[in-house]
Amino acid sequence: MQNSIEHTNHAQHADAFQIGTDIGSSAFDNAPIGIFDSGFGGLTVAREIVEELPNESIIYFGDTARCPYGPRSQEEVDGFVQQICTWLVERGVKLLVIACNTATAAGLEHAQRTFSVPVIGAVEPGARAAARATKNRRVGVIATKGTVESDCYPRAIRHIDAGITVFSTATPKFVDIVEQGIRISNGPIEDLTSRASKVYIRPAFQEIAQDYLEPLRRCGVDTLVLGCTHYPMLKALIGGVMGHGVLLVSSAEEMAKDVRETLALRGQLAAPDNTPTHEFFTSSNAVDDFRSFGSRVFNREIERPVHVDLPEL
Ligand code: DGL
Repeated sequence: MQNSIEHTNHAQHADAFQIGTDIGSSAFDNAPIGIFDSGFGGLTVAREIVEELPNESIIYFGDTARCPYGPRSQEEVDGFVQQICTWLVERGVKLLVIACNTATAAGLEHAQRTFSVPVIGAVEPGARAAARATKNRRVGVIATKGTVESDCYPRAIRHIDAGITVFSTATPKFVDIVEQGIRISNGPIEDLTSRASKVYIRPAFQEIAQDYLEPLRRCGVDTLVLGCTHYPMLKALIGGVMGHGVLLVSSAEEMAKDVRETLALRGQLAAPDNTPTHEFFTSSNAVDDFRSFGSRVFNREIERPVHVDLPEL
């Protein structure tokens, strides 16, 4: 019953889903895209998807109550992925986006086997962007402990070009820095992420970034994958240490293109006259925080996020 239309709250989505699958590639499908992350980070991906595909409806789930995923075991995170994907599929989504590298590393393949809708993860698109960008074929990857230990980025990059040497480092404190920064600041996210940011560009954070990144810089990488959906918010801090010669690559834009391509191939893009809806759910009780911090990362007003109690696994 993974793709059960009976379970959906969105009758119109269910109808549209059936149209899309019934009459093939000339059809449109106004069902929503399901996107999830351990918290706010995946909103950097949701933002790209909405920009790339403005007619599409989305349902975003932020598992803020269980964030961070990074230090948890692969088995535990895989269980979260199964649980959240099931919840989204029951709401009639036509495609799932795992907008979290840690969750992709732990649960993408299992999710692709379990659910009948396509599932897009964060790792392969980021690996592809890095393999395309590198000139000297030396690529750095920074990510959470879970992502680095899974070895998914080196495998994905070498699968594309076996001649690329990959250097990976876990940079877990960057997740805390992003979370702290967004809580102690106001205003547009662009101010936060710019080189002039007083929030992220401060000596204590620069010291942490220096410790993490200096060894990678010394390896002579010309491309650095920001292998965590939180990290694009630290572009200025990270770029400041790595220097101008190193290109910073994140998955978000590439994932949005994959979503477009997958839906187009399946004849499931939303109709040009669709009125899209953006719905947000969080496992945390702090719904107001989710609305105010999330709106800044998403770069659009998040109206009425809804708390969802996921049963303990
Ligand atoms: N956003 C998650 C990722 O892309 C990291 C945050 C966490 O540890 O939950 O890996």
